[in-house]
Amino acid sequence: MLNLDEAERKKAGELLTAFFDDYERSIPERPLVPDVDRDALEALLAIPEEGIGVEGLFREINEKILPNSTTVAHPRFLAYVLGPPNGIAPYAEAIAATINQNCNFWQLSPAASVVERGVVAWLSALFGQGEHAGGILTEGGSIATLNAMTVALHARRPRFREQGLQMGERILVVYTSAEAHRCVDKAAAILGIGLDNVRRIPTDDQWRMRVDLLEKEIRADRAAGREPFCVVATPGTVTSGSIDPIADIADVCEREDLWLHVDGAYGGLFVLSEHKREEFQACGRADSIAVDPHKLLFAPLAAGCLLVRDRSTLTDAYAFSSSYLTVAEDALMIDYMDHGPQLSRGFKALKIWSALRTFGVGAFRAAMDHMLDLAQYMADLVDAERDLELMAPVSLTAVCFRMKHGKHAAALATLAGEGTALLGPASLGGQHGMRACVTNFRTTRHDVEQIVARLADVAGQARDD
Ligand SMILES: Cc1ncc(COP(=O)(O)O)c(C=O)c1O
Repeated sequence: MLNLDEAERKKAGELLTAFFDDYERSIPERPLVPDVDRDALEALLAIPEEGIGVEGLFREINEKILPNSTTVAHPRFLAYVLGPPNGIAPYAEAIAATINQNCNFWQLSPAASVVERGVVAWLSALFGQGEHAGGILTEGGSIATLNAMTVALHARRPRFREQGLQMGERILVVYTSAEAHRCVDKAAAILGIGLDNVRRIPTDDQWRMRVDLLEKEIRADRAAGREPFCVVATPGTVTSGSIDPIADIADVCEREDLWLHVDGAYGGLFVLSEHKREEFQACGRADSIAVDPHKLLFAPLAAGCLLVRDRSTLTDAYAFSSSYLTVAEDALMIDYMDHGPQLSRGFKALKIWSALRTFGVGAFRAAMDHMLDLAQYMADLVDAERDLELMAPVSLTAVCFRMKHGKHAAALATLAGEGTALLGPASLGGQHGMRACVTNFRTTRHDVEQIVARLADVAGQARDD
């Protein structure tokens, strides 16, 4: 039998509740990075013929999986752009798994379809995308950008579905900044555009795309007989959090008839902050926007989102009718299989919607402001240290800095090893340093003070060595 009897269900419930409770309480004391027990991990490879039962399973999870897992929710986990799950998310995930809705066409997921529509519409409205807008939840920001560039390709070449890239037309060119995320390159490579046709536009002294150089490259490509078709702008680059001049880039795209995609995987959701709303206003002019609820809405992995200004561009690229599916249109529900490449899809929207319903949007706005303040505070502390220096202005919550006497890799390892903090490496304009990215609602001013004080020690030792 593959279901649990009543006694087992009761036991599983108790063990799960205890797991959630113990984990939540232990987060600040847990190791940032585990001291990996290789024997315990090897043991995970064995799949038994006879099951070990509910209690056996929880024992293995508690003894082998948990101690060998990174504590990404730790308040001093500031490496990469990775948010901890919000408090209601584990429960929402369990419910989504229980009802197991297939969010492909609405008859298999009526409520889920409406919940996803609600989440997407709310996200779209944050950018003022308008009444024709649409979108779909994705596995993450990279996939949202891949989907956006797919849609852009179909919009540029209306016969792309039939002909592919085989028609010997002019070479299509994509433009993005030197500081853009690699997902742009990846999408260009996957779609057959080719990395040779991705122009990495240099940035200014604040790591933002140079619009004059963008225009120059577009002119040069047109003169050489190539076909510029898409610009990917970033409001919050992955290293320094710099915000490209989206309004100026949107003007160029309008003038030149180019698809504008905004990669807001890191920065986009800062639109929720009153202090940043103005700066993000122009994102609504883009043809498509990627945002990542698994970063700044603290949804557990994985949840990204693609938003488009005109939802018919999604169906143009992705809708295929299939005789083996019984689809009946309904104005309330959406058949998400027609808005993206997947057929079977899980109920990702529940964990996002549940958090918005449980805590309210205001709690997320407050979390954004808290993280923005902390990053600025950290930058001020770094700036005051004689052996540390900032590498970039702090636009959002990424703080890039260097130790004046080097040894960054060793310092990162020291801080991680002793449990002070997990920070990441940073490289800007050929200069190497470190990066702390505050994407955690649990991080406090005290955490930041502790980290900078320790960094100052380590940087002082590097000077004396
Ligand atoms: C600007 C930017 N784009 C794309 C991504 C990739 O997002 P994901 O990891 O959700 O695929 C990131 C990740 O940090 C990012 O910062």
